[in-house]
Amino acid sequence: MAHKNDQQDLGLARQYEAYPYPERNPKDETKRLLIGSPSHLNEIDYWVFGGYRSYTQPLRILIAGCGTGDAAIMVAQQMARHQRSGEVICLDRAEAVLKIVKGRAATRKLSNIRYVQGSILELPDLNLGLFDYIDCCGVLHHLPDLAAALQILREQLNPGGGMGLMVYAPYGRTGVYMVQEALSKLTSLSDPPVKRLDVAKRIMKHLPSTAWLRFNGNFGDHLTGGDAGLYDLLLNPRDRSYKIAELWDLLDKNELAVNCLVEPARYDPAYLITDPKIREKFRQFDIRTQASLAESLAGNMSTHVVYVRRAEDNIQFADPCASDSIPFMRETPGEILANQILPSNLLPYSFGMLTIMLPLPAQARGFLGLVDNRRSVGEIIEIVKKRGIEEHRILPLWKQTFEILRSINQLFVRSAV
Ligand SMILES: C[S@@+](CC[C@H](N)C(=O)[O-])C[C@H]1O[C@@H](n2cnc3c(N)ncnc32)[C@H](O)[C@@H]1O
Repeated sequence: MAHKNDQQDLGLARQYEAYPYPERNPKDETKRLLIGSPSHLNEIDYWVFGGYRSYTQPLRILIAGCGTGDAAIMVAQQMARHQRSGEVICLDRAEAVLKIVKGRAATRKLSNIRYVQGSILELPDLNLGLFDYIDCCGVLHHLPDLAAALQILREQLNPGGGMGLMVYAPYGRTGVYMVQEALSKLTSLSDPPVKRLDVAKRIMKHLPSTAWLRFNGNFGDHLTGGDAGLYDLLLNPRDRSYKIAELWDLLDKNELAVNCLVEPARYDPAYLITDPKIREKFRQFDIRTQASLAESLAGNMSTHVVYVRRAEDNIQFADPCASDSIPFMRETPGEILANQILPSNLLPYSFGMLTIMLPLPAQARGFLGLVDNRRSVGEIIEIVKKRGIEEHRILPLWKQTFEILRSINQLFVRSAV
């Protein structure tokens, strides 16, 4: 339900009925599965449950403002593939987007998704029960009151559960708000969406080469996202962005604690500025300030993805050095990642257009080849020992490898429960 007297919210509701976002064709599900963050099942297992939740425990997931269903389809397919029980509830107030998610799920023959047309703000009255995990990606920054919505979502969490959130970040969207400002003068919110889109298309066709939007390669909605992408980027009636410190403050105020910023290394300024004196200075700041420094210095963050929990809950991450812990990759197989390590033992890793260099021990290649979501740390160490590495060196080298690859959201570990 849209807010009756809130013209921006009414415009938002109209937008997604006219241009379901992102633009998706259910037929494409026969060709590929779209993978992303938040809400990859392996990320949920690790960043929300610390690698401690049993795979046999049913998982109740809410996708709040599911749009055309990228996160819902990804996680429901991953659950089906690994015979993980539970259900994914797709909530959105636009009928048009739910129709597309249903089409995508039908193509994939997924039977673990339920659909609810309604507003996040109505959740307390929808009687959907509590959830172990809630995804709210690209929605909060469009709502009339982000804090109120966060509070409502928080109340739908089971104890020990968590959320994966994505909100816009300002610096990496440089140029977007300038064009939005111009379009807000050239079109009226009450115009039909098709008329507003026509104005945006004409502007984009003639946009001067000096416009900041033209220089910005941090996103591609206006270039490859079709009508829905262009509309969402430039004509969205309410679009705010949050610096990481602002987002963190909002989370604090809503009694939500951060499990992880995705990817952690992106928020470490020491990967950006390698000068030893400056690195020493960085280390004197707390994690939050370091994250702000990374955001200001990189300048390319157009979104923040964050996993959070209720502040009263504790999270413990499985011990990567316990011999019965089981390491698992997020998505890229270990051998493929190992092949990307340079002869200098540096792993180049890209966050959009920014590439950082991660120093790994030479033995990281060997470890990576052995991670298969079945072998335990103890078994991996036994194999590596037979390859001639002195026993006392193996665990520290593994720990170093694990911590670096975890910081780029690639390698996790679960407890053997
Ligand atoms: C930018 S799209 C994001 C879609 C999807 N989460 C994604 O990341 O691809 C925003 C979606 O939120 C939905 N939405 C906006 N306000 C809502 C509300 N109050 N309750 C439920 N859904 C809402 C819109 O209908 C739209 O489908």
